[in-house]
Amino acid sequence: MTTPIHRRDALAAAAGMVLSPLAVPALAAAPSARRAAAAATPLTQDPAKPFRLIHMTDIHVQPERQAERGAAQAWVRAQELKPDLVITGGDTVMDVFDAKRDRAKVMRGCYERMMKDVSVPVLHTTGNHDILGWNRSRTDVPLDAADWGKKWACETFAQPRNYLSSDRGGWRFILLDSVQPDGNGYKGFLDPEQRAWFEAELAATPAGTPICVVSHIPIIAVTTITYGKPPARGSDTILSGGEMHTDCAELHELMRASGKVRLCLSGHIHLRDRCETDGITYINDGAVSGSWWKGPLEGVPEGFGVLDLRPDGTFDHRYETYGWTAQQ
Ligand SMILES: [Fe+2]
Repeated sequence: MTTPIHRRDALAAAAGMVLSPLAVPALAAAPSARRAAAAATPLTQDPAKPFRLIHMTDIHVQPERQAERGAAQAWVRAQELKPDLVITGGDTVMDVFDAKRDRAKVMRGCYERMMKDVSVPVLHTTGNHDILGWNRSRTDVPLDAADWGKKWACETFAQPRNYLSSDRGGWRFILLDSVQPDGNGYKGFLDPEQRAWFEAELAATPAGTPICVVSHIPIIAVTTITYGKPPARGSDTILSGGEMHTDCAELHELMRASGKVRLCLSGHIHLRDRCETDGITYINDGAVSGSWWKGPLEGVPEGFGVLDLRPDGTFDHRYETYGWTAQQ
């Protein structure tokens, strides 16, 4: 989600701009390219050994508050756990959504320093804060910049598009691009092109192959109701379209009908919750950055999700902290 200051802000982007999910990125740093190549290469899985996925979301790396040191500590801990794959859940950098060009360069530098010693396969989900210059009231990045918008995330993460699928460990991982423009802000849903792609991916997945869906904005998350002080909602509970997918019911029905989706992971809220319905478990993992590097958020400490996945679709999940204390 956005920082507390902007949490309830109306959302994102310049009117009339169409973002191509097939945009080809520029070459990224060599270590990123190696990780992306490793992540794209299916591994042979020992059926007796679960596939270990680490879900690191909302890292929000930045120069301030010793966040680069904190993020490095998180990556060290994550790699000690010997993951077969790490999926970042979006908001990997503090923010380029509102950023001017100079700050975006700082964000890129923070990301590259953070990842230079990471040697495990990594796939990146795009979060709202990873999208360059959608807030036209704050940025100085022109609309025709080659890396404007979601292309910045593609280039930075060395991934060809903002949504993708990857088969590993007997599972299919589908990373969705939740964030769609809404004025100078954003809302959570799948645009028609991506929605068609998602439906095709579900249909093309062989029966018996469990699917894990990862989105930045939760498709369903209980904490979107409970976080913060209860807002004045009258007799109705109204959920912000910036905090949970507005197409949640449709996506849930698609996934339920497929009979293949076992798990949906998300971030954005920086809190933890888990709910299960129709055989699908929705897990929102807390943030690596906690409360944007200011300490735990509503009692949820800085950390990440650790999942051991089995080819039969069963899994274990826990939330792992990494011993960080907020710094000034
Ligand atoms: Fe975030």
